[in-house]
Amino acid sequence: MSPQTRRATLVGLGALALGALGAAAMVVAHFRPEPGSHSALAIGGPFTLTASDGQTVSDSSYRGKWLLVYFGYTYCPDVCPTTLNDIAEALGRLGPLADRITPLFITIDPERDTPEVLGRYVMSFDPRIVGLTGTPEQIADVAREYRVYFKKRPTGKNPDDYLMDHSSILYVMDPEGRYVTLISAEQKPGQIAARLRQLISQSS
Ligand code: NI
Repeated sequence: MSPQTRRATLVGLGALALGALGAAAMVVAHFRPEPGSHSALAIGGPFTLTASDGQTVSDSSYRGKWLLVYFGYTYCPDVCPTTLNDIAEALGRLGPLADRITPLFITIDPERDTPEVLGRYVMSFDPRIVGLTGTPEQIADVAREYRVYFKKRPTGKNPDDYLMDHSSILYVMDPEGRYVTLISAEQKPGQIAARLRQLISQSS
C-alpha cells in the first residue's frame, strides 16, 4: 500500500473503532475503552459553554493548560464520582505539575446540572476541577466533537426519574488545544498521574 492508502486505511479503521465504541456504549452505561495513542482522527474542537460562576467560556479560555476532559453528570450513581475522585487524587500526586493541568468536567445532563449544581459538585472533589454546562445544543455539539455517547434512560414516572448512559473516557488535550490521547477512566490515580507526567515531560 502507498503511504496515502495506508493512512486512509488507518483513519478508516479508527472511524470504525469509534463507531463500534458508540454502539458498545448503547448497551453499557459506562463504556470504558482501552487507552489509545496519538490518533489522526479529529477529537475535540471549539466549544462555548457556561462555567459554574455563570461566565461564558470557550475552548480558547484554556489555552496554555493541559486539559483532562471528562463528560458525565452530577446525578451519576457510580462511575462519575469515582472518576472525579481519581482525578482529584491524581492531581494531588502530581504536586506542582498539576498547576499545568485543568480538568474539565462537562455535563451531559444540562437539564439538571445548572452552573450552581455543577460548581458545588466539582468543588466537593477538588476546587481545581472546572464544571461546565450549557444549553442542550451546546452540550450536544461538544459531545459530538469528542465523540461522546450519551442518552437519557428513564427510571420512573417522574420526569426527573432518569439516569444518563454515557461513555466514560478521559481526553488529554495539549496547551494548544490539540487532542493528545485517551486515558481509560478505569486507570488508577497513580496511573493517570504517571501518564500525565510522562506526556507533559515529553513535550517540554
Ligand atoms: Ni457517570
